[in-house]
Amino acid sequence: MIKVAILGYGTVGSGVFKILKENSNIITAKAGQEVDVKYVLDLRDFPGDPCEPVLVHDYDIILNDPEVEVIIEVMGGLKPAYDFVRAALEAGKSVCTSNKELVAKYGAQLIRIAQEKNRNFLFEAAVGGGIPIIRPLNMHITADKIQEITGILNGTTNYILTKMDREGADFDSTLKQAQDLGYAERNPEADIEGFDAVRKIAILASLANGKTVDFEEIYTEGISKITAQDFKYAKKMNKSIKLLGKCKNEENAIVASVSPRLLSPEHPLYNVNDVINGILVRGNMVGDLVFIGSGAGSLPTASAVVSDVVDCVRHLNVSTTVMWSEEKLELENFAKSKKKFFVRTGADTEKIETAFGSVEFVDAGISGEIGFITDKMSEEEFAKKAEMLGDVISRIRIES
Ligand code: HSE
Repeated sequence: MIKVAILGYGTVGSGVFKILKENSNIITAKAGQEVDVKYVLDLRDFPGDPCEPVLVHDYDIILNDPEVEVIIEVMGGLKPAYDFVRAALEAGKSVCTSNKELVAKYGAQLIRIAQEKNRNFLFEAAVGGGIPIIRPLNMHITADKIQEITGILNGTTNYILTKMDREGADFDSTLKQAQDLGYAERNPEADIEGFDAVRKIAILASLANGKTVDFEEIYTEGISKITAQDFKYAKKMNKSIKLLGKCKNEENAIVASVSPRLLSPEHPLYNVNDVINGILVRGNMVGDLVFIGSGAGSLPTASAVVSDVVDCVRHLNVSTTVMWSEEKLELENFAKSKKKFFVRTGADTEKIETAFGSVEFVDAGISGEIGFITDKMSEEEFAKKAEMLGDVISRIRIES
């Protein structure tokens, strides 16, 4: 029997506890031995909850207990999660986590410490919630050069954009509805400004390239400026608007970004709606692989965490190979990356054609403005032309 401890009894932690109890027969069969929760750590008390008999408030009890072989960190945030996880690995315990902030910032270092100790640091749940994507990148898609990863990596923003699309609603009222339903946080900035998605694409980009991609160097734009009018134009163009995290090998340079994009129906992520996440991985041999499923929520996320626990138990004294070094990956300047843009402007057609040359006009029946699609051009080229045009109401990148 393997003893484990859960750090944090919130949404994900309580899901992990429930799965380990309710699916214990399946988990025992798959792990090869029983997995027993010896401790749950939380600052709070949970009177009457099934975790009560194993609840502790002092991390040292867990750290100093040699019987505990696997630590499940589902507290989120960097403090005290980083110190707790590092200490656990240094004490020779394996760690499974759902914490994308921790993995994006310290992933390579924590993998190295785990490897030095012949233990594991696993984080399947840190990206895409219940969707298996980390293990496929590490273990399965190993014969390919990964040319591109494009993902809808945030459920909250996908829910908001889907609702705006279906109901023609504006951003603020849709966000409020999402908050009332408990989908969006009261402080939704990390989701709507892309800060959550950028950590997730940085993790995927690091795994795909074997080096550390600094999430702070990735161009990040959220969805807070997307309007009901933008969706009118999108409908006219038969496109949807999605917040995409992208990492792409363009002419042997890696370009990464998080930004809203217009997608046509042929795109594999066009129909990924509501709180669902979707990730497209393009390998130079395997072609396109698409992973779709619940990107958030207690049980889907906890399911991914427990799959890591099973992996740890199967490989107790063997470090699974995760190719992610501390060496930094230099990203291509996003300003050089090329694409088409959809633009809304108050300027007239003559000015548009002076700045952009010949363009494709889109009429969504909105008075006082003109919509058009540019040719493919770099971000810096677009910025110059947009400045020449003046009066740009909005622009959205078009996904090819
Ligand atoms: N806030 C995140 C989302 C939770 O909406 O996708 C999962 O990381």
